[in-house]
Amino acid sequence: MALWKDVNAIYQIYPRSFKDSNNDGVGDIQGVIDKLDYLKSGLGVDAIWLSPFYKSPMVDFGYDISDYYEVDPVFGNLDDYRRLLREAHARDIKVMADFVPNHTSDQHEWFQESRSSRQNPKKDWYVWRDPKPDGTPPNNWLSVFGGSAWELDQTRGQYYLHSFSSYQPDLNWENPLVRSAMHDVMAFWLALGTDGIRLDAVRWISKDILLRDNPPNPNYDSTKDSNPYHSQIQAYSYFGPRLFEYLQDLLMEGEFQDRAFIFEDYPDADLQIDPHVQRGFFYTQINRQEAMPFNFEGMSTEWGTDNFRNFVDDFQQSLRGNDVAVYCFGNHDKPRIATKYGPEKSRLIAMLQLTLPGLPVIYYGDELAMVNGTITPDRVVDPFEKQVPNAGLGRDPSRTPMQWSDEPHAGFSMVEPWLPVPQDLAGKTVSSQENDKTSTLSVYRRLLSLRHDYSCLRRGKYQKADGNDDKIFAYICHDKMAESLTVLNFSDFEVEYKIEDREYTRSLSTTGDEPRVDHDTVKLGPYEGVVFIR
Ligand code: GLC
Repeated sequence: MALWKDVNAIYQIYPRSFKDSNNDGVGDIQGVIDKLDYLKSGLGVDAIWLSPFYKSPMVDFGYDISDYYEVDPVFGNLDDYRRLLREAHARDIKVMADFVPNHTSDQHEWFQESRSSRQNPKKDWYVWRDPKPDGTPPNNWLSVFGGSAWELDQTRGQYYLHSFSSYQPDLNWENPLVRSAMHDVMAFWLALGTDGIRLDAVRWISKDILLRDNPPNPNYDSTKDSNPYHSQIQAYSYFGPRLFEYLQDLLMEGEFQDRAFIFEDYPDADLQIDPHVQRGFFYTQINRQEAMPFNFEGMSTEWGTDNFRNFVDDFQQSLRGNDVAVYCFGNHDKPRIATKYGPEKSRLIAMLQLTLPGLPVIYYGDELAMVNGTITPDRVVDPFEKQVPNAGLGRDPSRTPMQWSDEPHAGFSMVEPWLPVPQDLAGKTVSSQENDKTSTLSVYRRLLSLRHDYSCLRRGKYQKADGNDDKIFAYICHDKMAESLTVLNFSDFEVEYKIEDREYTRSLSTTGDEPRVDHDTVKLGPYEGVVFIR
């Protein structure tokens, strides 16, 4: 097996939506196994991360876990997971599992016990507080999914905290028994042979111990921002003083040294910390080689040469020698890249992501330029959309089934899937793109093949190479073996870029063709990107 430092790219699989092998309308682990050859040879990734497949009542589609040690029957069973590990490893594909440390499902037996009485041995496993004298919640904290973060429990006569939906009570990380139980969960999945862990919503595990009220956000304007969560500054409800101590302990110093850990953490103005410093904590405060935060900044970067150059360049400068960048432009919580920017520009993003050093994470379907699905009101299932409807916050549109072929239900399943597939699939499926050399899939495949063959793309040294041009963002990545030059035209003009008149061993344009080189100049059409290796 390759080491993490040699991994080409990670592919995020939302298991419900990848491939349904037993025709119940929901994807499963066997479906993932069936598609490993596509991932390895059809695309060229060598690691996958699966969103949660554990036992769950599925209120938040697996991010509400009722048994950390079981696979949910809708996805299969533990033997299926063991087989996935074997089959993936046989193809030199690493498997990363999702880990949800902040909260369980309200159906988890820990919570059932905890809520049963104030005398139960697990009484302090969750965050319980008495009502205020007037019966209202202990403080003003809000749930990410809308409304108060507190729910009154009749049996205990107390409120419990839920940073997400009321079906997802927050574990009490101040309790050492909780910390050790969560350590055991992680060790269990790693001992099975899981190669890495993506850690969900980590910032919430440490909160203000005094549970002080959050201040109102003076800049919040509900006519411009539909998300009520932003009406407060989240000064006390997350990113508390013990966050990195807990993470460091959880990550088992000395154990499982060959595994990788990626933390979910978004840049956040409320923290009043420079985003590089915020991300830097994850690199510096946790003493492990392959432990790193996602970089989601690209998801909130407005289109523009300067914007993308500044984002990438500042970030690259902020990294220390061994820090690994994890560029991520799409996931199961955010709109599809091809919807946000359009399919053409999404190819430029692909080239940017796959020619920068680090561990890129590709969201399933982005390699086809899949767009957000259309979800009619009767098909809405996302708890966020249900709680805060019609505000454009729902996540169902970016979770629709993978589009495999032009067969019914896009070849995902033989029955109507849990979320709809588009009516018109022409040119939007794996089968229609795999043999078309100008398709988005072909561009991804060729980018991944370059990235696989040249270590300078994976872990080389980055250097800007564009003199701050207003249309072009260009950079070089080099190591002892080779050097890559990436030139990205963020404008809708035809532009030229001077390259040294030298032999390039390999090259590629986002059009799927070769770059148009004339002597020492390469010509780029609107939103075209090119990469050269020498
Ligand atoms: C993370 C997940 C999201 C989930 C939330 C609560 O942000 O990515 O899908 O709803 O955590 O677990």
